[in-house]
Amino acid sequence: MGKPNPPIDLKLLPMTAEVGELGELFIGSVGVSELASEFGTPLFVYDEAHVKHKLLEAKSAFGANVAYASKAFICKYLVGLVHEAGIKIDVSTGGELSHCLLSGFDPGRIVFHGNNKSSMELTSAISAGVGVIVIDSLDEIERIERLAILNPVSEPINVMLRLTPGIEAHTHEYIRTGQHDSKFGFSINSEIAPMAVNRILNNDALKLLGFHFHIGSLIFKLDGYLEAIKAVADFIKDYKIEQLVIGGGLGVRYLNDDPDISITAWAEYIKQSARQCGIDEEIEITAEPGRSIVASAAITVYTVGTIKKIKDIRTYVSVDGGMSDNPRPVLYSSGYEAFVPTRTLADRPMKCRIVGKHCESGDILVNEAMLPEDTAVGDLLATPVTGAYGYSMASNYNKVPRPSVVFVHNGNAREVVRRETMQDLMRLDL
Ligand SMILES: Cc1ncc(COP(=O)(O)O)c(C=O)c1O
Repeated sequence: MGKPNPPIDLKLLPMTAEVGELGELFIGSVGVSELASEFGTPLFVYDEAHVKHKLLEAKSAFGANVAYASKAFICKYLVGLVHEAGIKIDVSTGGELSHCLLSGFDPGRIVFHGNNKSSMELTSAISAGVGVIVIDSLDEIERIERLAILNPVSEPINVMLRLTPGIEAHTHEYIRTGQHDSKFGFSINSEIAPMAVNRILNNDALKLLGFHFHIGSLIFKLDGYLEAIKAVADFIKDYKIEQLVIGGGLGVRYLNDDPDISITAWAEYIKQSARQCGIDEEIEITAEPGRSIVASAAITVYTVGTIKKIKDIRTYVSVDGGMSDNPRPVLYSSGYEAFVPTRTLADRPMKCRIVGKHCESGDILVNEAMLPEDTAVGDLLATPVTGAYGYSMASNYNKVPRPSVVFVHNGNAREVVRRETMQDLMRLDL
């Protein structure tokens, strides 16, 4: 018997999560075991009310020009919810762009990012009429200039310039992007940034809407934003612009001890920082949240396949997914909580390591998990807060089909991305 350890904190679960009399978890008034029986496992379960709530919170905090960063998670149904919420969407590749366009999203509300946009991607963006292209390099300016000559458009192309403010955000180095030593954007300390601005200002085919920076992801210490705003305020004061976009990056609570900062509080901090740094009140300050919109809206449900107890060493609980549906633990040593959603309120005294089914010792989902003592083969097991950078980073490593994704709402479950089949895994082979 392990040490006592409380049940999962229900605040880590999506907004409509409820526990039935027998301890079963319901999301959107649908039982998780019913979802697992109908759609199989592993399964991403998104709480639609939660997603809508966060989209609207972002809109009321930052205004209708706030953009949802689709890299966190994208599918046609979610693109529809972003459209309904009346905000913009941020894409960072031709693939995300095409997904939004094919989903019927208004091109004029798309923000196109990327540090290495190809001529083909830029051509698609310009011919679709995307709202704004966020320019990341001098090479990109040259590419857009050439395309504008080859395919003249009646209106100037709206662009922003991505700046790197020289800030080391307090987060994992792989998701830190605001420091001068970065592949992204124009360092405000270099002579290239003003050169790039002047080149845009001197080209009638381009219109400079504003500036952008993004200091990193999973940020809890907001003072990095104040530092970044302070740094760019001095740079942008010489230019007449409409917008300053501060990127995304707000951290979300994955573990019991993580802070819980709302999008509203984040926006307040940002706006106050902008005032403090003397940014002209006419300049709209907006953002591109990804993780903070979708992360806590979803849980992943697995089935336990094997339990191996190694005496005096540890217990391994293997599930039917792993690093292919959630590579974050492997990439960033990210931590997750875990629980058994048919016994949601059970104490979790059993210390174990939750691993996947891939041929890698590093295929770890939760390094030091706590589960109910009676966790058994065949049980469902869930990890909360998996709505961001889980499915969107999923792979077919070891030819494991990607899970299906369901959105639940008011007692209904809608499968929005179907599970991959073995035939899908062969579809590219010639
Ligand atoms: C340019 C840009 N904007 C927004 C985001 C979204 O960040 P987050 O999901 O941390 O809010 C990212 C993430 O990498 C990004 O690169």
